[in-house]
Amino acid sequence: MSNIVKSNAVDTVERAAEALARGGLIGMPTETVYGLAGSAANEQALSKIFDVKGRPIGHPLIVHLSSLDELDRYALSVPQAAVALIGACWPGPLTVLLQRSRHVSDLITGNRSTVAIRIPANECARSIIAMHGHAVAAPSANRFGHVSPTTAQHVLDDLGEHVDLIVDDGPCTIGVESTIIDFTSPVPQLLRPGGFALEDLEELMGIHVAAPEGESRASGMLESHYAPQGKVLLVNSLSEAKSVLSAHPEARLISHWESLPLYAASLYAQMRQADHDGVPLIVAITPAPSGLGRAICDRLKKASHP
Ligand code: TXA
Ligand code: MG
Repeated sequence: MSNIVKSNAVDTVERAAEALARGGLIGMPTETVYGLAGSAANEQALSKIFDVKGRPIGHPLIVHLSSLDELDRYALSVPQAAVALIGACWPGPLTVLLQRSRHVSDLITGNRSTVAIRIPANECARSIIAMHGHAVAAPSANRFGHVSPTTAQHVLDDLGEHVDLIVDDGPCTIGVESTIIDFTSPVPQLLRPGGFALEDLEELMGIHVAAPEGESRASGMLESHYAPQGKVLLVNSLSEAKSVLSAHPEARLISHWESLPLYAASLYAQMRQADHDGVPLIVAITPAPSGLGRAICDRLKKASHP
């Protein structure tokens, strides 16, 4: 029997909050991708997240809040630039990296002095977190290194009965993960391009965001990540795609490349469908790397890495 429940059923939020309170894990909808959520206040739930995902311990998790009031509990300090950005962008697909408080579990931060935090725009997610009464830690609800889930069915396909409940709120509207900005360095750094366009964030703050420096700190920054089983070939134009497709009848073109929002919203579902159909070669047109195109390029590049 499937453990998927509809987000609009009367008792869904309550059931999800009960599962979290018991130390269980839920598939939680967000506007970016579905998360595998466990209570940030329960060490057993946190370690179960790593087990279920097959994620190496030490890859830190994002803390999800339902409201701004809880921020001070988890962050030691919030720099002025972050305050401005958070005020304008939350709830939404922005994650900020801040100095952690002592209330954050080492399992969440991977023993780092920093913590990643966001407030999701998805209302059902916020209701669940609010009813739980604590923050939740939620990585994307996929097996480690696999394509992120953008529907409840994707969560079921990857994690099946290992989650207590999967809350189905329909397909994610944005479809790529949140943008992560590190505010613990002297100049804010972009750790992961995502659902919030970098250009918009820079305009809101009135400052330039730097490229990430030092060793790879976000697992999303590993060269190969978000990868389907089929080989992914990147091309620059439709005409290039057409010549590959005519030489390789077994290949499939990822569609919706004409519209960045549609491309982002459908990218992971299309990769999963191609795997499901046994497509050995996936062809994707790389968009210009600006706006939402920056995140799409990043995910395509990682998916195509051998
Ligand atoms: O849109 C999203 O952010 C989704 C939804 C579910 O909210 N979540 C998500 O989580 O993408 P995950 O675990 O798949 O990716 C979190 C990224 C990882 O690359 C992780 O390394 C990075 O955030 N991260 C978390 N805490 C960090 C920290 N303290 N320092 C550096 N990177 C951190
Ligand atoms: Mg992930």
